[in-house]
Amino acid sequence: MTSDIESIQSEALAAIDAAQDLRALDELRVAELGKKGRLTAILKTLGGMEPEQRKQVGGQVNQAKAALQQAINARKDALERAEIDAKLSSEAIDVTLPGRGIEPGTLHPLRRTAERISALFGSIGFEVVSGPEIEDDWHNFEALNFPPEHPARAMHDTFWVNGGSHVLRTHTSPVQVRTMQARKPPLRIIAPGRVYRCDSDRTHSPMFHQIEGLYVAENVSFADLKSDLQQFLSLYFEREVETRFRPSYFPFTEPSCEVDIRYEDLRGRTGWMEILGCGMVHPNVFKAVGLDPEAVTGYAFGMGVERMAMLRYGVDDLRLFFDNDTRFLKQFSAFGNVFGAAA
Ligand code: PHE
Repeated sequence: MTSDIESIQSEALAAIDAAQDLRALDELRVAELGKKGRLTAILKTLGGMEPEQRKQVGGQVNQAKAALQQAINARKDALERAEIDAKLSSEAIDVTLPGRGIEPGTLHPLRRTAERISALFGSIGFEVVSGPEIEDDWHNFEALNFPPEHPARAMHDTFWVNGGSHVLRTHTSPVQVRTMQARKPPLRIIAPGRVYRCDSDRTHSPMFHQIEGLYVAENVSFADLKSDLQQFLSLYFEREVETRFRPSYFPFTEPSCEVDIRYEDLRGRTGWMEILGCGMVHPNVFKAVGLDPEAVTGYAFGMGVERMAMLRYGVDDLRLFFDNDTRFLKQFSAFGNVFGAAA
């Protein structure tokens, strides 16, 4: 019996020492010290022994069990430490590797378009001005000859705020009003910025961008308007652009026109596309800002930045500009700089 216990113990100790991971070690613990282990089997025979023998064998089995448990604990510590060491060395950061680098950002195509348009007008003497996006009714509508209750207000799907005393500006024309109030003619200004209308589909977004222009001086004529716009459009599209001035209506200009350009799509079909509104500043607008309509004349125009960008880049869904998908946005980094040079 004694030699049995000794050989079980030495065999088990060797196996414990050889255990390669925590799972194998735990299986050994169950096999050697568990209910079905060989030592437990010996304990079960104690009942049939003489008291002297029982005492001796029982003591040896308990000693053997204690020795195995101790060996298991020691092996467990060693395996756990080895596991942590392996993890630490596999996760170590190699500080000598070269960095990943940060790609330079590029301008959003709408920003690029707005800056390019502003730069082109800058080259013929226009100055960029800006104004608030939350406007009062007077600057957004009334001073621009939209009297209260006038049906022309329905042309703008307005977001009203402050119980109707203010609006999210529906166009950048209020910037023209503010500039004419603050400064004396001659004025040649361009007002780019965000505007808001309660409208949303493939070609409309509730927030979009406009650029409006205003030229006020002593003898500004419709011929100036036509030639300046014609020159601008040819510069913008980098080709001779055929235009059509179509009579239209805006409360703040008279006469008013919409300008169409002739375009050709990818299949060679041609047609006219509306790209901006314009006209000669209405006398009531001059009166509202304290200018004498007998002394000055002026032209004004307004265009949508999204529409201009869609035409230049061949984009057919305006919502792409606002999705912030870098795979879409990245494609524009190669298109020219803000001064109009195409790369
Ligand atoms: N403000 C007009 C609009 O948003 C555009 C426009 C500006 C038309 C200037 C004529 C002259 O609809």
